[in-house]
Amino acid sequence: MSTERQVKSRERVADHGEVFTAEREVNAMLDLVKQETERIDSRFLEPACGDGNFLAEILRRKLNAVEARYKKSAADYEKYAVLAASSIYGVDILQDNVEECRKRLFGIWDEAYTAHCKNECREEVREAVRYILDRNILCGNALTLKKVNAAGEDTDDPIIFSEWVFTGKSSVKRSDYRLDVLMNENQDEFNYQAQLSLFAEEANGMANWMIDPETGKSIPKPVREYSPVYYWKIQQ
Ligand SMILES: C[S@@+](CC[C@H](N)C(=O)[O-])C[C@H]1O[C@@H](n2cnc3c(N)ncnc32)[C@H](O)[C@@H]1O
Repeated sequence: MSTERQVKSRERVADHGEVFTAEREVNAMLDLVKQETERIDSRFLEPACGDGNFLAEILRRKLNAVEARYKKSAADYEKYAVLAASSIYGVDILQDNVEECRKRLFGIWDEAYTAHCKNECREEVREAVRYILDRNILCGNALTLKKVNAAGEDTDDPIIFSEWVFTGKSSVKRSDYRLDVLMNENQDEFNYQAQLSLFAEEANGMANWMIDPETGKSIPKPVREYSPVYYWKIQQ
């Protein structure tokens, strides 16, 4: 929450441990990784993001970095501001928090974009950023890594995040990954199994992994990949 109100209700504290972090503590904690918070494309995931106290401040810092570096060109500012938004991820188990977080991040982004690009702002870019935030801030259980339903119960569906990689001048390539695979710590087991099997893909549990041809190491395999598109057309 943008004000200093830290508790919404006693029930929410009891049921979900929902106590929001005050701005002073948010800044003090983010200062521990200051350089990363000011790097435009550094990826952050907050697994219990609430309405986005940490993510909002990270976005502000990234947008300040965009302003400092690309203030002379509206086109560059726009592209790097989109990149900044696309690198911020969050999960919360409560749908209202997720919606507030998306709205809040978009508000911060749009205020900076409008102030900087003025009459060069494009509605389709705003739509693209809304779309990215809808994909990046998800309702799920960070302990089981499953999506949750409207009643807050786990579904069978894994949380799937999109990676947005800027390629070329203005294109973005989207690849979707399962969060449980990204966080899997059993890569050594995979490496061992892969060595044993000539058909690594077919071996048990390996469908989510692949061998990086350059390093020979196991890396998460996307569940879906998309062709690159202009960043303002992502939502299409
Ligand atoms: C202590 S609050 C922190 C919120 C925010 N990170 C902040 O610092 O202001 C914890 C948050 O975790 C969420 N939460 C609780 N259990 C969760 C779970 N298993 N998976 C995802 N989010 C969860 C709650 O809804 C709440 O928003």
